Amino acid sequence: MRAFQNPLLSATLSSLALIAPFPASAFYLPGVAPTSYRIGDEVPLYVNSLTPTDTDDDRKLRSVFSFDYYHDAFHYCKPKDGPKNIQESLGSIIFGDRIKTSAYVLRMGQNETCKATCGSQIFPPDDAKFVNSRINQGYDMNWLIDGLPAAQQLMDPEDNSTFYSPGFALGYVYAEDDETPQEDMIPIFNNHYNIFVDFHQAGHDSYRVVGVLVEPMSLKSSKNVNGDQAQCGDIDHPLVLSEDSTTEVTFTYSVFWRDSATPFATRWDKYLHVYDPRIHWLSLVNSAVIVIFLITTVSTILVRTLRKDIARYNRLDQFALDDLSGTSAVEDGVQEDSGWKLVHGDVFRAPKNPLLLSVLLGNGAQLFMMAGFTIAFAMLGFLSPSNRGALGTIMILLYTFFGSIGGYVSARTYKSFGGEKWKQNFALTPLALPLVVFSTFFLLNLFVWARQASGAVPFLTMFVIVGLWFVISVPLSIAGSWAGFRHPAVEAPVRTNQIPRQIPQASGYLRPLPSMLIAGVLPFGAIFVELYFIMNSIWFSKVYYMFGFLFVCYGLMIMTCASVTVLMVYFVLCAEDYHWQWRSFFTAGASAGYVFLSAILYWLRALSFTSWTSGVLYLGYSALISLMVFVLTGSIGFFASWMFVLKIYRSIKVD
Ligand SMILES: *[C@@H]1O[C@H](CO)[C@@H](O)[C@H](O)[C@H]1NC(C)=O
Ligand SMILES: *[C@@H]1O[C@H](CO)[C@@H](O)[C@H](O)[C@H]1NC(C)=O
Repeated sequence: MRAFQNPLLSATLSSLALIAPFPASAFYLPGVAPTSYRIGDEVPLYVNSLTPTDTDDDRKLRSVFSFDYYHDAFHYCKPKDGPKNIQESLGSIIFGDRIKTSAYVLRMGQNETCKATCGSQIFPPDDAKFVNSRINQGYDMNWLIDGLPAAQQLMDPEDNSTFYSPGFALGYVYAEDDETPQEDMIPIFNNHYNIFVDFHQAGHDSYRVVGVLVEPMSLKSSKNVNGDQAQCGDIDHPLVLSEDSTTEVTFTYSVFWRDSATPFATRWDKYLHVYDPRIHWLSLVNSAVIVIFLITTVSTILVRTLRKDIARYNRLDQFALDDLSGTSAVEDGVQEDSGWKLVHGDVFRAPKNPLLLSVLLGNGAQLFMMAGFTIAFAMLGFLSPSNRGALGTIMILLYTFFGSIGGYVSARTYKSFGGEKWKQNFALTPLALPLVVFSTFFLLNLFVWARQASGAVPFLTMFVIVGLWFVISVPLSIAGSWAGFRHPAVEAPVRTNQIPRQIPQASGYLRPLPSMLIAGVLPFGAIFVELYFIMNSIWFSKVYYMFGFLFVCYGLMIMTCASVTVLMVYFVLCAEDYHWQWRSFFTAGASAGYVFLSAILYWLRALSFTSWTSGVLYLGYSALISLMVFVLTGSIGFFASWMFVLKIYRSIKVD
């Protein structure tokens, strides 16, 4: 990849590159087996749903709904025997792909000019309104040829390099000049496509598709002459769909095959363009340095203070034992016994609502494993973008299988809390959180159905997911819970007193809310750069492929979550407050609040919805993502704190 043009920069970053191999290289590994064609072979062109993307005038996204290519209002030509669905993976369907066959006929190496896909179509005013409003919202068409998305060529103003950006415009909005008000702009509908296919000769009479560009045009006076041959109009007279009367439209296309030197293995490179990679790297290095600095400071301070504390406590004990008769010394010792040691008789007291906490922790462990393995797989290149939907599929499958881990962690934690309601624990671990997520998802889906958009997940797919859940994940989770139930509980190193201690009033930053606000921002700081790119890829339907970066960020986030929470728990214990369990969960989990906040800021910055349903959908999905982040980071915080608490109370002697 062209990321390292600056040798100085590349030298500085090389150490980081060792742990974060630059993502593009990943795709050369397993990849997808290439398809070879001979001259004259038919190369199928598939159509996918139309997706909203940023509009030219303000670079903002106006909608979140995608629409089927064969939605009646578009009147696109269907193949003679009707459009057929192309087999897709589960992840691909959930992420909105609806891939179907098309009426375009492409033959390897054979140029075509101005072919018609079907007879002329009549647009009634209602359909014209629908299409015009999609043009105003900046919808893109998405085609696939040999697994490659049809793209438009863009130029990066930074270094004048050109690259392929998947998707091309449904139409465009024409304005007389810059002062034209929004309502006087004229939506222009594209009805002609120049399809440029780059091909590479791989052997004798063996050719491969290595790039697809589409240049859409609007030609008002195109006419269908006979059969599939048409006469194309001129570009000076664009086509406008009238909203008052019917409009006749002829859809045409031309095909140009261009010999290319790009081999099959690197054909994705020009699609995966990084705008100004230096800024990207620098921001990552920046946050990594801050995070690592923070962690080192925190841990050195903590380790030094703790060592002193422990030495003092043990010395006092020793002193007290040596000099049993010297009552004054013992009293002095007791008085000096302060800070976290004082709460040793309460620190392992079970938290309130142990059932809920253990269920959340089980689910957090499951998410943790799922996220870690998915990112690692993606980074190693097993989920190349030519394998559409592989990412979504692997996420669902891993989550399903890690149900066993979730069950185990939940049951064992519950046992350590001294829980008794085993049936509830076994049942709620695989059901509670997925039920919340699934019902929210289902409700949001109803909105999509109501809009007749194609992004709605079909009933059959929902059924498959629920089936997968009940047939695989629930039994695995229960098996895991059983194993966790059989294993011994994590023993507390000190005895818990009968009577709970009084907790002094907390003050300043140690009160729950301020401590959460302070601590939550740091793990968020580790991921916000990547979060921004992930949001871009989700909402603007762009390929996300920077898994090397994401992997590093995930690691940084785990470390920050753990260290910040441990520090907070230490302060809380020193203030003689022993309710650390929920506290640690919420302290780390608070970063989810920042994730949600950043989603709102992202809305203000990059989105400008024209319908309230888009807003509801956006907020709903953002809330779901934040909930997952909450459970995930909260669990990291809890387990780090638990290990910390066990460790420090093991190292002191208590009579
Ligand atoms: C890019 O092209 C423009 C116009 O052709 C030129 O003015 C500019 O200097 C070029 N920039 C770079 C980085 O080459
Ligand atoms: C097809 O069109 C392309 C682009 O205009 C041209 O380079 C190529 O030579 C043409 N191929 C044939 C077989 O005419």
